[in-house]
Amino acid sequence: MPRFRPDLDSIPTYHPGRPLSEVARELGLETITDLGSNEDPREPFPEVRAAITEAVSGVNRYPLTDSPYLADALAEHHGVDPDWVWVAPGSTGMLIATAIAASGPGSSVVFADPSFVVYRMAATIAGATPLAVPVDAEWRLDAAAMAAAVRDDTNLIYYCNPNNPTGTHTSFSAMEQLAKAVPPEVTIVFDEAYAEYVTAPDWSPAIPLTARHENVVVSRTFSKVYGLAGERVGYAIGNPGLLGALSRPQPPYAVSTLAQVAALAALGQQERVVERVAETVAGREWIARLLRDLGQFAIDSQTNFVLWRPSDSRTAADAVLRRGTLVRALGPWVRITVGTPEQNRRCLDAIEQGLAAGLF
Ligand SMILES: Cc1ncc(COP(=O)(O)O)c(C=O)c1O
Repeated sequence: MPRFRPDLDSIPTYHPGRPLSEVARELGLETITDLGSNEDPREPFPEVRAAITEAVSGVNRYPLTDSPYLADALAEHHGVDPDWVWVAPGSTGMLIATAIAASGPGSSVVFADPSFVVYRMAATIAGATPLAVPVDAEWRLDAAAMAAAVRDDTNLIYYCNPNNPTGTHTSFSAMEQLAKAVPPEVTIVFDEAYAEYVTAPDWSPAIPLTARHENVVVSRTFSKVYGLAGERVGYAIGNPGLLGALSRPQPPYAVSTLAQVAALAALGQQERVVERVAETVAGREWIARLLRDLGQFAIDSQTNFVLWRPSDSRTAADAVLRRGTLVRALGPWVRITVGTPEQNRRCLDAIEQGLAAGLF
């Protein structure tokens, strides 16, 4: 029997579920619409498709290290120098490398509860102690409580804004206060995976804080509004010294050639991004309104998903699945990713039918 590290079983596993084509066959459905993983429901932009097609002939070669063209474009997009950008294999790759670099046995990592499941996973992979701080009564991250949770052995804070799975946001000034309150030895990751969808006037990106605090890094992804979840590409913005340290555990050639060219092409389509955001924002307001019209409780969202609290989350998710839409049951909640208007309609029809049948 091979020997493993003794704490291996404490690393949470990520359960994306079985291939949907298999589930559909089992349930006797033609297709199932996936509204379970906060992806964009639309196909990649045509320019992305063209860029991938053109780059395919070069995939016998290793990708460019450090994604220089993409980093340059991101630097321009965000108004920072290129060495303030770290391109990673999904922001998940960045979050895990960060935990390995910044924390480890004998240290602790602070994040919210509930928040993105990868934070606990990353802390545990690194061998650090996870410290989960409950969200407040309005399901918002409690920046003051998170600052207070920092111990002498804390090396890292993950702060998700807006937050997955609650969909709530906290203001720029809450992030600013956190950055001021925390000692400079503690790296703060502001995870802004859903930044593009925010409409709340008191939110703005944490990027300016990276110039003011040497321990602050902001993480973004191409998996949401840019529609590239399958390509695995995300990035971080922070000072070069910090990024150099945090990226040390990243494997060589981590970001594939196709991921690099796809992201570069997608980034150039800001007008299309604006259109998508508008459709998604309208979709999330519509879903929340319809749920409330059905007498249900849903949290106001600043993201591309809505968190709903039915009387029985497992039964509700199962009933919706049997009617052709995958949504995610998370404890007492069900998280519904905003799809196209037709997909949203189908999902809400399934919920309405389930409620009418008294299933949940
Ligand atoms: C808060 C948050 N950060 C990061 C990610 C993952 O992004 P990526 O696909 O770039 O790894 C997600 C995906 O759901 C997320 O919710």
